[in-house]
Amino acid sequence: MSDASKEIKKVMISDLWSMKEKRQKISMITAYSYPQGLIVDEAGIDVILVGDSLGMVELGYRDTVPVTMEEMLAHTQAVTRAVKRAHVVSDMPFMSYNISVQQAVTNAGILYKDGLADSIKLEGGQGMAETVAAIHRAGIPVFGHIGLTPQTAALLGGFKVQGKSIDQAKKVFEDAVALEEAGAFALILEAIPKELAALITEKVRIPTVGIGAGVGCDGQVLVLHDMVGLFKRFTPKFVKVYADVYTTQVEAVSEFINDVRSADFPGEEHSFGMAAETVEQLRKQLKK
Ligand code: KIV
Repeated sequence: MSDASKEIKKVMISDLWSMKEKRQKISMITAYSYPQGLIVDEAGIDVILVGDSLGMVELGYRDTVPVTMEEMLAHTQAVTRAVKRAHVVSDMPFMSYNISVQQAVTNAGILYKDGLADSIKLEGGQGMAETVAAIHRAGIPVFGHIGLTPQTAALLGGFKVQGKSIDQAKKVFEDAVALEEAGAFALILEAIPKELAALITEKVRIPTVGIGAGVGCDGQVLVLHDMVGLFKRFTPKFVKVYADVYTTQVEAVSEFINDVRSADFPGEEHSFGMAAETVEQLRKQLKK
């Protein structure tokens, strides 16, 4: 092992737990490819989610429902090849854990063992507690995801804020408790009122990471493509856009097209040459 790689200390689940204890905020972001893994790890992110949002932002699907295990595995492997420090979570795609507990444990094992993820994530609360417990018992750390669960948004009335009424809020709260009891080591709270998220964060011992859940969570997660301006189809209210990488790339490619058309590219510095006498000899020896 080189000296440089020895210095990098992997973020462990125990580090995330102690961050909650010390009230240090946890930063989390999605990444789906080798270069994205390198970029977000170099930036110093604590947790990387290879999210099934890749279906929308990388593969152009309508939503996350069509994403397959094969796609999740390939993208997880690309990210884990790049990442040295951050904790990498791999998302279980729709229908890879919904049929039976056995199916869920098998597929969690594939993302953990073949994908080399540090943990897996699945969506659902009390209804998923038994599945979470079984994956946890198999030795695989589980990140829960409650509130708005995009894979089953159709059953929640669409992509809407969850937990606004007293009954809904109690249900989201009970989902959090059920997952903690089942062994989940952390929870994503998506699109719930900030007051409810703060209450859950106060009452559970495991870290909560919010997306559209206010500043009272133990950490925050965003989809990389949303926050760097790479996904233009729509931008949810809870996203802060930090850059316009889409426009930067369009401008770079346009400049390249212009350079090709005007023969300004390639320049001398991008070209290889050969000795003038070799060129001369070559000309003489060519038949045409
Ligand atoms: O797939 C994903 O990116 C997610 C985040 C929205 C938390 O689940």
